[in-house]
Amino acid sequence: MFEEAQYFAPVAAQADGSVVVELSASHPGFADPVYRARRNAIAGLAVNYQPGTPIPTAEYTEQEHEVWATVTRELGIKHAKYATAEYLDGAARLRLPQERIPQLEEVSQLLEPLTGFRYLPAAGLVPLRDFYGVLADGLFHSTQYIRHHSVPFYTPEPDVIHEVIGHANALANPRYAALYRLAGEAARRVEGEEALEFVSKVFWFTMEFGVMREADELKAYGAGILSSYGEIEEFRGMDIRPLDLSAMGTTHYDITKYQDVLFRAESVQHLEDVVGDFWSSCDDDSIAKLVAARV
Ligand SMILES: [Fe+2]
Repeated sequence: MFEEAQYFAPVAAQADGSVVVELSASHPGFADPVYRARRNAIAGLAVNYQPGTPIPTAEYTEQEHEVWATVTRELGIKHAKYATAEYLDGAARLRLPQERIPQLEEVSQLLEPLTGFRYLPAAGLVPLRDFYGVLADGLFHSTQYIRHHSVPFYTPEPDVIHEVIGHANALANPRYAALYRLAGEAARRVEGEEALEFVSKVFWFTMEFGVMREADELKAYGAGILSSYGEIEEFRGMDIRPLDLSAMGTTHYDITKYQDVLFRAESVQHLEDVVGDFWSSCDDDSIAKLVAARV
């Protein structure tokens, strides 16, 4: 999931217990009352979800399953060219359905035997500390809706394609899953909001938008790149910088555009040594020093 409020459609619980998702006028589904009703119903599943119970089944249309099948097919071609070996390993182990949207409960059942991770339903924005904190418990907050069928390769918000194709395939790889857990432990350890934001930005520039050198080619492992039909063709032309904690934790990003500044790890080991070790040990003081070192 992306972590900025403006990227999520606001979700409001009504007095009668129903849930309304407020889509902006520019959202592809804005003028589709059937889609909007489905969005409201799916958000209601997350709002009313009781932890420890199976994730309720979301209703999808045949058109929406076709969106999943189309995007899965097209991204699969691009992943073979652009994704890291570890991500491809995760995808091969997870074996997501190709022709239909998997339910989040099904994703959990596929993922848990591999790395212990399970999914939690999220209606929209989850507060940073909750979103990251539960990663330490092997839990991943995920939206359940899918983008509007009229534009299969575009979504203004993180949908189930991003959450599952982008993140679950990565979470199926033990080395990446361990990094996600460490990010969660870091989010639980730090106390100040500035330190938490720093931890989340390092996550953004690694597990969401990270790139990696692999046999003299630049590959992607970040879920945001690997779930974006357009961005995956563009990342090699972006401003690629060396992995640097101070820079990642303080660089501003605009979630509404393609990410034009990316940070490259030289290997998985390098990512583990720099970012994994940071998340393993960081606290408010060490982060304050990293912020000061940036100036
Ligand atoms: Fe994400």
